[in-house]
Amino acid sequence: MLEPALLPTPLVDCTDAALARAGVELRLKRDDLLHPTVPGNKWRKLAPNLAAAVEQGHTRLLTFGGAYSTHLRAVAVAAAALGLTSVGLVRGEELADRPRNWSLRAAEDAGMELAFLSRAEYREATGRGGTDTTDGLQRRWGPCLVLPEGGSNALAAMGAAAIPAELPDLGTHDVVCCPVGTGATLAGIAAGLPPGARALGVAVLRGGAGYLEGEVARLHRAAYGREFGNWRIDHGHHGGGYGKVPAELADFADSFERRQGIALERRYVAKLLAALYDLAAAGAFPQGTRLTAVVTGLPDPA
Ligand SMILES: Cc1ncc(COP(=O)(O)O)c(C=O)c1O
Repeated sequence: MLEPALLPTPLVDCTDAALARAGVELRLKRDDLLHPTVPGNKWRKLAPNLAAAVEQGHTRLLTFGGAYSTHLRAVAVAAAALGLTSVGLVRGEELADRPRNWSLRAAEDAGMELAFLSRAEYREATGRGGTDTTDGLQRRWGPCLVLPEGGSNALAAMGAAAIPAELPDLGTHDVVCCPVGTGATLAGIAAGLPPGARALGVAVLRGGAGYLEGEVARLHRAAYGREFGNWRIDHGHHGGGYGKVPAELADFADSFERRQGIALERRYVAKLLAALYDLAAAGAFPQGTRLTAVVTGLPDPA
C-alpha cells in the first residue's frame, strides 16, 4: 500500500457570487492533497493496481506515457516506494538523445528505466494496434505487471469509486464532476454514487465524443459487469484540445486562484472548473444543484 498523506481528502465550500446567481453551490474535493508525488486521481487509480501487483508477487511494473506524463512519474515513485522496479515506455524516439525534461528526469531519478518508442511502436505497444502485447512486452522486459496508459483499467475505476464514498449525504441535487482524459476516473465516480446523484465529466481532449463514452462504458463492464446511466460527458470545453490552455482559460484560472487561494493544475482541473462556471451561467443546472468538483491533480512544478 502506498501510504496516503491525507485520506479522506478535505471537502471545501467554494462560495462565489457568479455561481450563487445561477442558483448553484460548488464544493471542491481536494484530492490534490492526497499524496505529494502521487496526487489526486493518480493515487486513486494506482493504489488498487499496486496492491494487486504486490499480492500477485510482481517485482516490476511497466507502463506508458508521453514526454510530460504525470502517470509515468507517479508509477516511478509508487513502484520505488513499494520496492518494485519500473519501466516507462515513452512516446517519441526523438527524445532518447535529448537532455531529459523535468518530468522524465523525475521519473528516472525515482528509479524508472525509460525506453523511447516511435509513434508506430508506441501505438502497437499500448495495444491500440488491436493486439494484446503483454507477452511481447514480458519477453522484452521480463516478468512485469503491464499498466495501461494513464493507469486506466478496471481496478483504477474501482479505486476512483472511493471518491463519492467519501462524500456524505449525496442525493438527487448532487452532481459530482471531474475532468476526463481516459474516462477511468469518471467511470469510478459514477459507479460509486448512491441512487439519485449524478456524475459529470468534462472532456479535456477534442474529438472524443462517442469514443470516451465507449471507454467509460467499457470500464464499467470490466469492473462491475454492467453499465451505469447516471453520468454524462461535456465535450464543449476542451479549450482547443489536449494540453491547450487558451488565454481565456489561463485568465479564469488566475482569477480563481486569487479568489479561492488554491493553485490550479491547468490542463485538467482549470478546464473542469471553467466548464462548470460556464455551464452554470448558461443555466445548464437546475436551481439548487450542488456541484462537487474533484481536484484531480497538482499544478506542474514551476
Ligand atoms: C490531473 C488529472 N486529472 C484528470 C485526469 C484524467 O483522468 P482519466 O484519465 O481517469 O480520465 C488526469 C490524467 O490522468 C490528470 O492528470
